[in-house]
Parts: sequence; structure tokens; C-alpha cells
Amino acid sequence: MSRSKNVLITVGAILLLLQLFQPKRNTDLHISENELSAMYDMPGDVKAILQTSCYDCHSNSTRYPWYSYVQPFGWWLSHHIREGKAKLNFSEFGNYAPRRQQSKLKAMAESIKSDDMPLRTYTVLHRNAKLTSLEKKLVTTWIESTSDSLAKSR
Ligand code: HEC
Repeated sequence: MSRSKNVLITVGAILLLLQLFQPKRNTDLHISENELSAMYDMPGDVKAILQTSCYDCHSNSTRYPWYSYVQPFGWWLSHHIREGKAKLNFSEFGNYAPRRQQSKLKAMAESIKSDDMPLRTYTVLHRNAKLTSLEKKLVTTWIESTSDSLAKSR
């Protein structure tokens, strides 16, 4: 057997072995009262945009794409979910103090305007998660008015 064939077989075997280690899934179907859309009046189109573009990494329920079942891609997504949720979790938004909610809303609008979010590596595989300028406008307008009413209610 040639050397390159040996290498291929070894790499193939390692990839197969990796499949045995599937990451834990982030799928809590319970919608809590602390969920962002349950706390504030959120129009359907804004909700749909956030769900498509942000919820996979910033909520307790990820819609797992096919590639997440293939390692190491699943680990890569898992890592983003862990990091993303630690910084901002829409499912637990109500647990944040009002001041923190305010600063998270501000950070959301900024990340959308500057195209920092959704992560670029993610939109390569999730083309529909990329926001059009109209979608950006819809979401940031909602964020700003929510943030204003939050400021007034304090
Ligand atoms: C593929 C996963 C992924 C998606 C999708 C995603 N994010 Fe993130 N987000 C992250 C990760 C990871 C971090 C933490 C690291 C960083 O700041 O780059 C983060 C950080 C953030 C932060 C910073 C929070 C803070 O307090 O520092 C904001 C705001 C944010 N994301 C908003 C959004 C919004 C809004 C969307 C949708 C338009 C979105 N993200 C989509 C993974 C994601």
C-alpha cells in the first residue's frame, strides 16, 4: 500500500472516531417569562429576524443545522453557543437588572449596525441569517424604542 493511501486511511479513521463525541445539545423548548419577546411588545417581523439571525447562539434553544452532527463542526458551533449565551441570552433577558438590559439592547443595535453580528463565519453557512438593510432598520428601530421606554419607566 502506498504511503499516501495510509495517511488517508488514518485521517479517515480519526474523523470517524471523532463522530463518537457529540456535544451536548442546547434545546430547551420551554419559553420562559424572562424571554425577551415575552417581556416587551415585539412585532412578529422583528421576532422572526432575531430568531433566524441570533437565537441559535443567544438563547436556550438552538435549531441545529445538519453540519452540527458532523464533528468537528458541531464542537465549533457549541463553542459559539456557550460564549454567545454567556454574554447575551434572550431566553433569560428578564434576569438581567434594568441597567444591564439597557446596555445589552444598546450593544445589540451596535453589533447589528456594524455588521459584527451575526458572526461572519456563521453567515457563510446560514445565508438567510445575514440581515438586509431593511431588516437591520426594523430591528434597530425596535431596539431603540424599547430602550427608550425602559429608560422612561425607571
Ligand atoms: C454563530 C453564533 C452567533 C450568532 C448567530 C450571533 N452571535 Fe452574537 N455573539 C456570539 C459570540 C460567540 C459572542 C461573544 C464573543 C464576541 O463578542 O465576539 C457574541 C456577542 C454578542 C454581543 C456582545 C454582548 C456583550 O455584552 O458583550 C452582542 C450584543 C451580540 N452578540 C448580539 C447578536 C445579535 C443581535 C445577533 C443577531 C443579529 C447575534 N449576536 C448573532 C455568537 C453569535
